[in-house]
Amino acid sequence: MLLATTFRELTQVCTDIQTKQQDYQLLVKQAEALLSGESDHIANAANLSALIFNNLPDLNWAGFYFLREQQLVLGPFQGQVACVRIPLGRGVCGTAAATGEVQRIADVHQFEGHIACDAASNSEIVLPIKHLGKVIAVFDIDSPELQRFDLIDQQYLSQIVDLFVQYSELGSFDGV
Ligand code: SME
Repeated sequence: MLLATTFRELTQVCTDIQTKQQDYQLLVKQAEALLSGESDHIANAANLSALIFNNLPDLNWAGFYFLREQQLVLGPFQGQVACVRIPLGRGVCGTAAATGEVQRIADVHQFEGHIACDAASNSEIVLPIKHLGKVIAVFDIDSPELQRFDLIDQQYLSQIVDLFVQYSELGSFDGV
């Protein structure tokens, strides 16, 4: 009986993973359709924020920060008003920009220096955006759920960031 329950649970987990991947595959196609006809980085960041915010469950913020004179400056986003400037190395966003590594934070309250723009946020993923090998922006997504983002989220969100870089004109940025 215990084994049967466990097997059923396992089957459900597999189905959930499959559904999540299929949903993401569709989202990546929608992102490509949105971005492929436009090179303006503001327009593309605005539409990507809306696409992600309105199609991924359990989010309270999704948006971009662009690097300007060694600081991250708020770009297009969906959600509550947010802090405008983040120094490199500060918070989750500044850490993603300074290290060039994705920051996938299960509980933001355990992250030293986390900047709480929206008190509802409990977990967060920040993807660095690189042009010619240098970080020029980050894509930040927040959730009120703890441990909202897993490796599947990271994998497909990274694909969407790659599409943003592929289609947007990013020559005006001095990266780090
Ligand atoms: N939490 C981020 C700040 C940006 S907001 O979440 C929109 C951070 O720690 O860098």
